[in-house]
Amino acid sequence: MRFTILTLFPEFFAGPLTCAQIARAREAGLIDFDLVNPRDFSTSRHQHVDDRPYGGGPGMVMLPDPLAAALKSVAAPGRRLVLAPSGRPLTQAFARELAREPALTLVCGRYEGIDERLLEAEGLESVCVGEAVLNGGEAAALCLVEAVARLVPGFMGKEESGDAESFSDGLLEHPHYTRPEVYQGRQVPEVLRGGSHAAIARWRREASLVRTLERRPELLQEAPLAGSDLNFLRGLRRPAALGRSLFLCLLHHPVLDKAGKTSTVSLTNLDIHDMCRVSRTYELGGVLLATPLDDQRELGQRLLDHWTEGAGGRANPDRAQALRLGRMVTGLDEALDWVSTQTGMAPKLVATCARTGYRPARGRKERSIDFTPPGVVRAWLKESPVLLVLGTGHGLAPEVLARAQAIVTPVRGFSAYNHLPVRSAAAILVDRLLGDAG
Ligand SMILES: C[S@@+](CC[C@H](N)C(=O)[O-])C[C@H]1O[C@@H](n2cnc3c(N)ncnc32)[C@H](O)[C@@H]1O
Repeated sequence: MRFTILTLFPEFFAGPLTCAQIARAREAGLIDFDLVNPRDFSTSRHQHVDDRPYGGGPGMVMLPDPLAAALKSVAAPGRRLVLAPSGRPLTQAFARELAREPALTLVCGRYEGIDERLLEAEGLESVCVGEAVLNGGEAAALCLVEAVARLVPGFMGKEESGDAESFSDGLLEHPHYTRPEVYQGRQVPEVLRGGSHAAIARWRREASLVRTLERRPELLQEAPLAGSDLNFLRGLRRPAALGRSLFLCLLHHPVLDKAGKTSTVSLTNLDIHDMCRVSRTYELGGVLLATPLDDQRELGQRLLDHWTEGAGGRANPDRAQALRLGRMVTGLDEALDWVSTQTGMAPKLVATCARTGYRPARGRKERSIDFTPPGVVRAWLKESPVLLVLGTGHGLAPEVLARAQAIVTPVRGFSAYNHLPVRSAAAILVDRLLGDAG
């Protein structure tokens, strides 16, 4: 594999490309490098390679012409990439993809970056090596070279060692141990000292799952997991207290109707079942079903009774477990009081809203809402109970939004259709608050 690196600082690469495995791979003819300096292609008197940005602002921008000429000078460029913080993240899968190419050309930016038209005109693919800004693309190019070169066949001593590493199967790698057996009072895990390959493989897989869950839970969303992995993850003790501090309140009054007027909405059987089932799944503290109408509360109570102690519950014990979390209350105040009594602490009131603005009072101008990201509410859950209040009808009335300590960022669909059922919104929000990333 031939790497061509376009850089204003070729001397940057003197050390890294001439030592350790990279040097050995070069000697073995597996990889090689060309360094091209765009400054050599500048036609200006002082060999300028940058100029001030249009629109003003600090810093300089790399001129397109010297870079275009430098790129043109590369006889066999292969796939052409530019290092940029806005690029596609360099992952192990991406490195693997690049390692299959016979040649790569890497363009290193400097200053504020490169004139966008050069990137578009040349069709360069942008690559980012981490969510931190470096002084220039050279260190980023080195990261890419190291990640890709070691996957070129023959680079690593043992071919298979690349397959077992972090990210290779979408997970972080398990920890490693070597001699001595006891170091500063810490033992090497017993299973690794035994001779059972199957037990060692299982331990490593599980340690890898635990580490990924603890440190990079978002990777689990994409990782190809076997049924045994899922069962193992399900069995892990999770921060259940976080879930138990979260309570849902489904408000049937005061909510808005189609015309934007404050009104009272009837109970929906499906909402009750589904919100209780979500709450049971995520081990929440309870679901407060709030309506000021006596007959509606009676109806709700009959429903809850039927699916818990009644015939429904006896025939479906799983459903009974979920519906036991439901409780009829007269309104928001009773819901807040109930949570306070259960937890010994006044809960934080967090509202939900599908709209981006609301009218605080009749005739007043619409106010835009300051939303609070789910991560902030998740942090509150570590300290205090939270009552997440959801509105039926066309959403919570402004007076409820005004009372809340926070309004959590709404679920954003992919179209202008903004009518997610309240029970679906509840499920999505609960996962955002408590899912693996918690
Ligand atoms: C100081 S940075 C420019 C940062 C740019 N103004 C921004 O905020 O995106 C200069 C050059 O360093 C390189 N660079 C910096 N951080 C990088 C990263 N995380 N991944 C890839 N390249 C990076 C790019 O080539 C970039 O053009």
